[in-house]
This record gives sequence, structure tokens and C-alpha cells, in this order.
Amino acid sequence: MGDLTGKVAVITGAARGLGREEAIQFARQGARVVINDIDRQDAEEAAQSAVEEIKNFGGEAIAVLGDCANSTDADNLLQSTLDAYGDLNIMVNNAGFCRDKTIFGMSDDEFDSVVHVHLRGHFVNMRNATAYWRNKAKAGEAVYGRLISTSSEAAIYGSAGQPNYAAAKAGIIAMAMGAAQLLDKYGITSNVIMPRALTDMTAGGQTAEMFAVPEDGSFHMFDPGNVAPLVGYLASPEAGRISGEVMVVWGNEVSILERPKSLEAIVNPRGAQKWQVEDLHSALASHYDDNYVPVWGGYSVPPY
Ligand SMILES: NC(=O)c1ccc[n+]([C@@H]2O[C@H](COP(=O)([O-])OP(=O)(O)OC[C@H]3O[C@@H](n4cnc5c(N)ncnc54)[C@H](O)[C@@H]3O)[C@@H](O)[C@H]2O)c1
Repeated sequence: MGDLTGKVAVITGAARGLGREEAIQFARQGARVVINDIDRQDAEEAAQSAVEEIKNFGGEAIAVLGDCANSTDADNLLQSTLDAYGDLNIMVNNAGFCRDKTIFGMSDDEFDSVVHVHLRGHFVNMRNATAYWRNKAKAGEAVYGRLISTSSEAAIYGSAGQPNYAAAKAGIIAMAMGAAQLLDKYGITSNVIMPRALTDMTAGGQTAEMFAVPEDGSFHMFDPGNVAPLVGYLASPEAGRISGEVMVVWGNEVSILERPKSLEAIVNPRGAQKWQVEDLHSALASHYDDNYVPVWGGYSVPPY
């Protein structure tokens, strides 16, 4: 169950945090692992230590540094993977960072940089992986392909202090759903996780206290290692029928999200014609009566 022997997995941003746990998980399931992270000394050292940790238990891994959102670096990531291991089977887009600000205080650069690393970072590697798999399929070769994308609950509930991040994470879901539809005929799956974990990204934020390691030594619900088994499962042969799904994962819990659906379709009582504003007021009154209060998703802190 969950055997990934002979499979090749690439994880972006895998030197630390959730990506590192996912890389170790894949290696324990038998996959050969490519650890990507940004080309910076601290990330390089962290990536090399992840490679060593995997090699120490007999697993196979290499580190390939580069910006996940840069096309040239992404091309190099794929080519280095093929050079080292001869194939690509599992593409986990995970890398990213936050630049939290409210919308009225956010600069163009704070917006662009976060959308760039998360949304474009997913796009370029998704494009490269899927083009590789499609070309293989067209050449008549067998394809084993798994795309796993990393979104956030910020995408569905919004996040008052992270408009850049929430928008990028929502875009990731839309892109991953389209990929699921497109790639179904090749037997390739595309799924999305929304994790919660204590990592560098959340350690300094408002979630830090909520995510902290319990002092009594009880199970740490926000250990990033709790997220990795689901990613390992979604990458496995047993999950081959699961695609186009979005799952919130943390602690000992996996929540399968429902597709957004219409509560009720209200039709113009005047028949087949354009709505008048005053008619909309009365038609929508049953939903937006005096008892109505806007629902923000129940978060009092940014949901990373
Ligand atoms: N931790 C949470 O609670 C949480 C919640 C929801 C979503 N997420 C998402 O999970 C993913 C992993 O986050 P994390 O919590 O492990 O954070 P983290 O900061 O521990 O790890 C992110 C990694 O990405 C790397 N990275 C940053 N920019 C990069 C780039 N341009 N190219 C390559 N690598 C780059 C960093 O160096 C780091 O190693 C992110 O996409 C994050 O948005 C995390």
C-alpha cells in the first residue's frame, strides 16, 4: 500500500517546512526524490541536510536549487530530474512565502511577489510536468502522473491581512481543477491540499500561539509531518481514481471540501427579461432579511 518504488517525485520549496516532510515521506514510500528550493546559502544548506536525512535511512534524493517561479530554473529542475532519475511521476508544488499587509497598505511589489511565487510558481512547474507527460503519452509510452498543489484556506475564507496570498491560493485551485479535467484522459490526477502546520511561515505570525508545540508533550496537531502522509497517499497508485479534489489537512484530520454550490437560483418573476433593481430587493429578501449577518468564515487570525 502506497508503494512508490521506482517513481520520481519533485517537490518545490522542500528544504524546510511542509515540503521537507513531504520529501521524506515520498522517500520512505520508496520514491526517488528531487528537493527544490531557492538558490540561497541557507536554503542550499537546508536542502542538503534533507538529502542527507533521506540517504541516512537508505532513500534516494538530490537537491536542485532554483526559483520555482522562474521558467529557466523550472526547465532546469525538470531536466536535472530526468538526467538524474530518467523520469518524472509526481510534481508537488509547495514553495512560497508571505508578505502580509491589509489591502489598503499593500504595495504593488508585495502583491506581485506573492502572486508570482505561489501562482506562477505552480504554473511553470505544472506546465513542464504536464507537457512532459503528454509528450510521453503521445509517443505511446506508459505515463504515471500525479500533480499535487498547495493552496490554503485563505483562498476560500479570504484573509484580511493577506489579500495577495489569498488571491494566489484561489488561483491555484482554479488552475489545478482545470488540469484535473484536461489530464483525466491520460490517467493523470491533480489534487489540492490546504494544510495547517507550524513552520517558518507560520511561526512568526498571529497563528504562532495557536500552532505552538504543546508543553505537556501531547500530540502536536500542527506538526508539519502530519500533512505529509496525505500527500504520500495522493501520489500513490491506490489514489489513482482521486482527482480534482481539495482537502484541508492537519493534525489527525483530513477534510474533503465540497464543490461550491448554489443555495437557490431565483428567477425573475416578470419572466424572461432583465432584472429591475427593485425586483431584486424583494426577490432576495428571504436570504438577506433582518436576521442576516455576513459570514467571514470564522477566522480571527490569518488562515495560512
Ligand atoms: N504552514 C501552514 O500552516 C500553511 C497553511 C496553508 C498553506 N501553506 C502552504 O504550504 C506551503 C509550504 O509552506 P510552509 O509552511 O512549509 O513554509 P516554509 O516557509 O517552512 O517553507 C517554504 C519553502 O519554500 C521555499 N521557497 C520560497 N520561495 C521559493 C522560490 N521562489 N523557489 C523555491 N523555493 C522557495 C523556502 O525557502 C522554504 O524552504 C506554502 O505554499 C504555503 O503557502 C502552509
